[in-house]
Parts: sequence; structure tokens; C-alpha cells
Amino acid sequence: MGTDRSRQGAQSRGEVTAGERKFQFYGRRKGHSLRRHHLQLMETLLPRLRFDPAGFRPDTFQACYLEIGFGGGEHLAHQASLHPDIRFVGAEPFINGVAKLLALIEEKGLQNVRVFDNDVRPLFAALPDASFSRIYLLYPDPWPKVRHHKRRFVSQENLAQIHRLLGPEGQFVFASDITDYADWALDHVRQHGGFTMPDGDDSVPPADWLETRYEEKAKAAGRRSRYLIFPKKTKREM
Ligand SMILES: C[S@@+](CC[C@H](N)C(=O)[O-])C[C@H]1O[C@@H](n2cnc3c(N)ncnc32)[C@H](O)[C@@H]1O
Repeated sequence: MGTDRSRQGAQSRGEVTAGERKFQFYGRRKGHSLRRHHLQLMETLLPRLRFDPAGFRPDTFQACYLEIGFGGGEHLAHQASLHPDIRFVGAEPFINGVAKLLALIEEKGLQNVRVFDNDVRPLFAALPDASFSRIYLLYPDPWPKVRHHKRRFVSQENLAQIHRLLGPEGQFVFASDITDYADWALDHVRQHGGFTMPDGDDSVPPADWLETRYEEKAKAAGRRSRYLIFPKKTKREM
């Protein structure tokens, strides 16, 4: 209560609260104005599909997958249509991307997707251990300048949450077209120690892959994607 009041006070004074500073988001939240149909979907469909961690009971589903930063939602919608029995949760703060995912959900008649239209990091703490069997992080913002590397999503703090949120035999699935970021991910995951490191050819996407617009553009620009799958280690392997 007291905390709420001091947060509201800080917000009304235009100050940045400690929570906001901890999870400062450097990406875009909004692009061009939404088309009328997308606006309608934001007003009507999003409130019905908005992910509520308080009511989330992962054990009531065959499996749950999380996609962090789903962009336009093409990969998420594709996976959700392939696996109607799996609960998909997508997190994305860029509202134009959220609207695109909603349009795909409507077009494909998907029943198994819930949408968190915000930064995923504050959500992590509200989720129980072993919530997901798979967590996707595909083409995260590369933040190429060295002084911006600390903004990269792959960090020990986020890996600790990803590890905690994966159940036994869970997988962390990472892809990037930026060689330096793929190497960064490999180094950070190795340092974390809780995942089995991938071996084999990382230029081959998983069998059920769908190329997003982002990935197509990277290809057209001559950048090769790397697909890294990190299974969570079993207790005995740790
Ligand atoms: C380069 S785009 C890639 C989008 C998509 N994964 C694809 O492959 O087409 C990275 C996305 O991650 C989202 N993102 C960045 N930080 C995030 C965070 N903390 N929580 C959720 N999404 C995030 C951005 O808004 C952006 O849409």
C-alpha cells in the first residue's frame, strides 16, 4: 500500500521509480499509428487474451511455451497452430507487434495463445518454477555498440530466471543473425552452467521453424542465422 502510494507519487512527479530503473526498456513501444482493425483488436481481443500470471496454472496444460519478444508474432502464431494442445504465452512491449499477433490469432482462429503486452522481465518473478517446457528468444535486439552490451537480453540475471522457469527437460531456444550476439549467448549460457551446450551445425533451423520477416531481411542482407538450443541440465548433470 505504502509502496504503491510512493510509486504513484513518483510517477505523478514524472520520476523514474526503482522498479522502472531496474527494468528500464530501451526498445520502441510504439511505431506508426495502428490501422482501424488493429485498434479494434487491441480494444476487444487483447483484454480477453491478456496473460494474467495470477491465474496461470501451468500444470493444467499438456505443456506451456513462452516466446520473449515475439515481434510481429509470426513464429508464435505458427507454433501455436502446429500445437493446439500447448499453451503459448508471448511477451512483447511493442504494441504494433502485439496488434499483428492479435490479427494472426484472429485469422488462424487460435485458442491457445495468451499475450503479455509488456516487458517480460517484471513478469518473471510472478511465475512459478518450471512453468514452461520451452522458452524462445529469437533475434533479440543486438545492441551492437560495446557500451550498450549491458542492454542485451541474454544476461546472467535473465538466464537465471529462464533456467528457473523451465521444467525438467525444458529447452531454451535462441536464434540470432548477429554472430557476436550468438557467441555472447554461448559464453553466457556456458558461464551459467545449468544448460547443456549445443553441438553440431548451428546453421540448421529446427524442423518446425518459420522464418519471420526479421529473419528474411537478415538473409537478404547476407547475414547467416545461428540457431542454438540449450536443454536444461537434469539435477544429475548439474
Ligand atoms: C529484433 S526484434 C525480433 C522480433 C521477433 N523475435 C522476430 O524474430 O521477428 C526483438 C524484439 O524483442 C522485443 N523485446 C526487447 N526487449 C524485450 C523484453 N524485455 N521483453 C519482451 N520483449 C522484448 C522488442 O520489442 C522487439 O520486438
